[in-house]
Amino acid sequence: MTMDALVPLIEVRNLTKHFETGHGRVEVLSGIDLVIRHRERIAVMGASGAGKTTFMNILGGLDHPSGGSVLIEGRDISRFGGGELDRFRNSTIGFVFQFHQLLPEFSALENVMMPALIAGDPYRKAREKALYLLERVGLSHRLVHKPGELSGGEQQRVAVARALAMKPRILLADEPTGNLDSRTSEEILELLNSLHAGGDFTMLIVTHDESLARRQDRLIVMKDGRVER
Ligand SMILES: Nc1ncnc2c1ncn2[C@@H]1O[C@H](COP(=O)(O)OP(=O)(O)OP(=O)(O)O)[C@@H](O)[C@H]1O
Ligand SMILES: [Mg+2]
Repeated sequence: MTMDALVPLIEVRNLTKHFETGHGRVEVLSGIDLVIRHRERIAVMGASGAGKTTFMNILGGLDHPSGGSVLIEGRDISRFGGGELDRFRNSTIGFVFQFHQLLPEFSALENVMMPALIAGDPYRKAREKALYLLERVGLSHRLVHKPGELSGGEQQRVAVARALAMKPRILLADEPTGNLDSRTSEEILELLNSLHAGGDFTMLIVTHDESLARRQDRLIVMKDGRVER
């Protein structure tokens, strides 16, 4: 039996999050319990303001919970210190955002090379990886283009390639198609699903599109800071 069968990939226990603001405390997550298995493909839905982005940011170590715990392969990331959290994020998590967040002054190739260069990979190795990933997302003909010279769908393909550059265990996509027309959205979802089928990672996709959501393995609906079903 492998570790995969013994320890769930992600285990969220009584997770809470509030923000202190000038107008008092905002309760955002009020006790989330959730187990996510290795290689699961999950869609996350819920009204605007339900806490989806907050939840994803905590899962990915971009934000800290107020209470409860997030175990990734049995390790509680809410206890990680700064350096440890950065290393965890870079090696384990890939993010795709609604607004791609590519570096505008760098080419598609350089954007996808960036995570590996930051992690200390030699230039040639980072370049080889990036070339491979850009081929996988169908952008071999746009290597030297900068984000501003790419279409919205192409920018998001670059962002997907960048997210997979470090072979993450978990891909977190927060409304990756929120800014795209329906045909391009469809293409990006198909791309994510085909990369997932040929890879070894778990994928959570936040979307407001029910037809996209229904094609994942599991649908999680957030409401009032909780997981509804
Ligand atoms: N830094 C912050 N300080 C105060 N309140 C915040 C902060 N970040 C988020 N919130 C509040 O938390 C709630 C949830 O926000 P979040 O961005 O997680 O929602 P969401 O489900 O992703 O919504 P959307 O579908 O619009 O992206 C909102 O009411 C928001 O105003
Ligand atoms: Mg959001």
